[in-house]
Amino acid sequence: MNATTPLTALQVMQDAPVIPVIVLNDVAHAVPMARALLAGGIRMLEVTLRTPQALACIEAIARELPEAVVGAGTVRSVADAQAAAKAGARFAVSPGYTSAVGQACRDAGLALLPGVATASEIMRACEDGFTELKFFPAVQAGGVAMLKAWAGPFFDVKFCPTGGLTLQNAPDFLALGNVVCVGGSWLVPANVPESGDWGRVTRLAMETQVLRK
Ligand code: 3PG
Repeated sequence: MNATTPLTALQVMQDAPVIPVIVLNDVAHAVPMARALLAGGIRMLEVTLRTPQALACIEAIARELPEAVVGAGTVRSVADAQAAAKAGARFAVSPGYTSAVGQACRDAGLALLPGVATASEIMRACEDGFTELKFFPAVQAGGVAMLKAWAGPFFDVKFCPTGGLTLQNAPDFLALGNVVCVGGSWLVPANVPESGDWGRVTRLAMETQVLRK
């Protein structure tokens, strides 16, 4: 996956069964976290723009680990999209969708997984040409039953359900024809950076390989 070739959202979704949703508070933790996930077979990494250090973390991973594909999560504005691309992100994930964010990602060369939770939001994203979407918050907003209901009218749309996913419930989602992968924070427990137990992240990442379709 050449760093100069723009990715498609489908490529982002198809790389592994799970996209890890990563929160990093310290730039010193960025490369060890990414290495731990890579060792567990996951290279598509979503670093959320939720902490002051997030952009520096994206930059460090992009610079030091060319075998990883780093993206920005929690992209909520045009400025977020531009800053993420400048830091070296290759894809973006947003909790919701606006046309401005969609256009900013296109302009910046970022593949985007826009977040949706209703039929109208899906229609709006499709209108702007986005047909690979994040269903957020998946479990809270209707889970598997909601995805089954959407499969009729939105037969050409693919989803990455995120929010409330675990190794235990992921198979139910991945069994659906309109689900390509899931997203989740369960494989990057919040206390790992402080404890230094990077092996735990690798083990959790390796466990997700059983979810491969
Ligand atoms: C998020 O954006 O916080 C993700 O949806 C992660 O949700 P989770 O912590 O329930 O996996």
